[in-house]
Amino acid sequence: MSDAAREITEGLSHTPATLSPKYFYDARGSQIFEEITRLPEYYPTRTEREIMRLHGRDIARRVGPGRTVIELGAGNCEKARSLCQTIAASRFVAVDISEEFLQQSAARLQAEMPMLTVCAFAADLSHEIDLPGDVPAAHRLVYYPGSSIGNFDLPQAQALLQRMRHMLHDDGALLIGVDLRKDVAVLEAAYDDAAGVTAAFNLNALAHVNRLIGSDFDLADWKHVAFFNHEASRIEMHLEAVVDVRVHWPGGGRGFARGERIHTENSYKYDNEGFAGLLDQAGFHRTVAWTDPQRWFAVVLACP
Ligand SMILES: C[S@@+](CC[C@H](N)C(=O)[O-])C[C@H]1O[C@@H](n2cnc3c(N)ncnc32)[C@H](O)[C@@H]1O
Repeated sequence: MSDAAREITEGLSHTPATLSPKYFYDARGSQIFEEITRLPEYYPTRTEREIMRLHGRDIARRVGPGRTVIELGAGNCEKARSLCQTIAASRFVAVDISEEFLQQSAARLQAEMPMLTVCAFAADLSHEIDLPGDVPAAHRLVYYPGSSIGNFDLPQAQALLQRMRHMLHDDGALLIGVDLRKDVAVLEAAYDDAAGVTAAFNLNALAHVNRLIGSDFDLADWKHVAFFNHEASRIEMHLEAVVDVRVHWPGGGRGFARGERIHTENSYKYDNEGFAGLLDQAGFHRTVAWTDPQRWFAVVLACP
């Protein structure tokens, strides 16, 4: 059994069942995520883009030209295209779990920006990240936009930030997007849009899991649920059984009663002070944060 299959079947066998959000992202999931970023309710992408538009010059002045930009969870590489231009980067390294989609995106970027050296490789950020040996060690900028850090519980977020710190020499820096606490209606709409695109994204995880572990989830038996958990300061996404279901996979299986859920994603919402504390504990002691006028989202530059 592969590590992924073991992790998935263990999570599904728990009560309540869990599935890591990384399993949203097969090629189809990556495409649906692109659609999500264009939805009127999904403020994070356009707000982060607006912060970069307003403060790109200041960011460029602080990080300087000639950086090797390493984007974790690079997806369609759209944000990197703009960042690499803004800061006059010399090299771009794209890392993502969704390999096919990543390779296509990186090839497109390389064709559009021939002066930038682009390479892409698949890796799972939940583990140690081994960069290819030819990635220069000095003058790196780790880029982690999209508030993807919010998908990790506090200890895992801390550990991931520490792994990022270990990728950097003292001249390195981290540029990271962080989603901030805000009106619950705004938050919940962003994760449960009227057109049902986020629902399709959540359900697609079951199709991906069927391929990865040979299970027989029927997507019609499940519905998308998203809500803000005030106590934990996070959006939670779940898949809820709409009928009693029995799911099988090679060597195992389990029943889900109608109304039972699989917890598929957390998306933690921070405040600037709390996030700066997290960065400090991970070894990033000098931070500058830029926000939009509504203070919905922050882009943070963090240096050792
Ligand atoms: C929320 S999307 C953000 C994409 C893009 N960076 C942006 O800001 O629009 C998260 C990205 O991280 C990738 N991803 C999710 N979990 C991952 C993991 N454990 N390891 C590596 N990449 C992961 C997904 O494939 C996806 O491209």
